[in-house]
Amino acid sequence: MSSTIVDNQAPFGEKHGPFVMGAYAPVAEELVLTDLPVEGSIPTDLNGVYLRNGPNPMFAPKGSYHIFDGDGMIHAGLFHNGRFTYRNKYVQTADLEKKKAAGEDLFWSVTTSVKDSSDKPMADAANTDIIGFAGNAVATWYLAGIPHIIDPISLDTIKAAPEYVSGLGKGMSAHCKVDEVTGELLYFDYYTQKPHMSYGVVSPEGQLIHHVPVELPGDRLMHDMAITEHYSILHDVPLYHDTEALKAGRHKIIFNSQLPMRFGVIPRMGSEDSVQWFNFSPCFIYHVVNAWEEGDEIVMVACRYMPAKHDDGSIDEQRTAKMIATLAMDARLWRYRMNVKTGETHEECLNDEHNVEFPGYNSAMTGRKTQWAYLVDHHPNTLRWTGIRKMNTDTGESCGAWSDDHDHCWYSEPWFAPADNAQSEDHGYVVTFCWNDKTCIQQLQIFDAQNVGQGPIARITLPQRIPAGFHACWMKPNQIATWHQLDNSF
Ligand SMILES: [Fe+2]
Repeated sequence: MSSTIVDNQAPFGEKHGPFVMGAYAPVAEELVLTDLPVEGSIPTDLNGVYLRNGPNPMFAPKGSYHIFDGDGMIHAGLFHNGRFTYRNKYVQTADLEKKKAAGEDLFWSVTTSVKDSSDKPMADAANTDIIGFAGNAVATWYLAGIPHIIDPISLDTIKAAPEYVSGLGKGMSAHCKVDEVTGELLYFDYYTQKPHMSYGVVSPEGQLIHHVPVELPGDRLMHDMAITEHYSILHDVPLYHDTEALKAGRHKIIFNSQLPMRFGVIPRMGSEDSVQWFNFSPCFIYHVVNAWEEGDEIVMVACRYMPAKHDDGSIDEQRTAKMIATLAMDARLWRYRMNVKTGETHEECLNDEHNVEFPGYNSAMTGRKTQWAYLVDHHPNTLRWTGIRKMNTDTGESCGAWSDDHDHCWYSEPWFAPADNAQSEDHGYVVTFCWNDKTCIQQLQIFDAQNVGQGPIARITLPQRIPAGFHACWMKPNQIATWHQLDNSF
């Protein structure tokens, strides 16, 4: 049955700040575990792997620590014919190898340096997102780094893939998109020099088949993008580096409410002059849910960051920038419409009640119309996800939510895992990790995707805490190159 965990939640002391202590504290061991305690029963038609990326610093930070600094570690829950295996393993980046050789951290924080600084280098930690592509998984980094190819079963780092990237930045954004129908991977890169952005397409065979510069009015700090069947949607956000701080080699961000939020719609293989820009109300967006085409309209559903306001209702730019920098999120489900023929736009809040972020959905339908999203209830003041929630992105209705304990639970980004014989978009399960800092129990929880509100149908208890982290994905057996090599002993 469930067992409590007593572990070191301040392995580097208290001087490096909150993101390396408590529920964020790194774990020391890389494990492979089977035959774990289960409450309820693991569905026999659940096959595939849940992968979650996040920071797990191997060495004490040199100074201040930000959660984007830590070495990437993948935590995996593998389901195979009713059996479950948990694994966790570091992403073996070149910068982690340098640290291991030195026996200490060698890099500066994203808060005290700037990317590509030669005198104060920061690590490309591959710690932010993970997504299934070309039979394996790809781990990516917040500030756009070199993608790392991960075996989704063993979690071994197969290789870094610099051949996927090009141009001035030579990086891949944390949030690339994979079209599971065509097998292509679409991504953007961004950097402080002109033209500030680029857009690329990698073929299912792993060849960079398209890469174009995208000129922006200035340095921008966008985070996500979207795709549809024929287009990609690039973000130009009113968020950028403070120029003076940048010159001094420091990281400070400005939110400018006089600038619009702009989305650039580019045909999937479009040229640099084919981007069609659409203006919307100023805001920031960390994460898109999904996008699709409806006739001449592009529809994009996203978690729109709600700018902080002064008492008179005007936007408080400084507080908004600080909230974005510290990941203190206040986001609402939002729908954008862009007509590529007429240029008309429309935006609307789908649900103003729930502060929801880190969306998952049925990834087989990326770029095609979806109705269901699975999100986390976000704590307003810090990076903590207190529960999970299913939402109808047609109506904005909340369609079931669950938390074991809003005051003490730390959920991970939930992803939809289809049943083997799935008959509809939400026929399957929702998978998430949950750490309870009161009971000190770590679980992987499985929900019926059509009845999230009834709570988990199975709880698998793990003997090691999973530190709070970032993004996750679900990979189906037909997305995993080595799936057929598994046997029942796995
Ligand atoms: Fe993200």
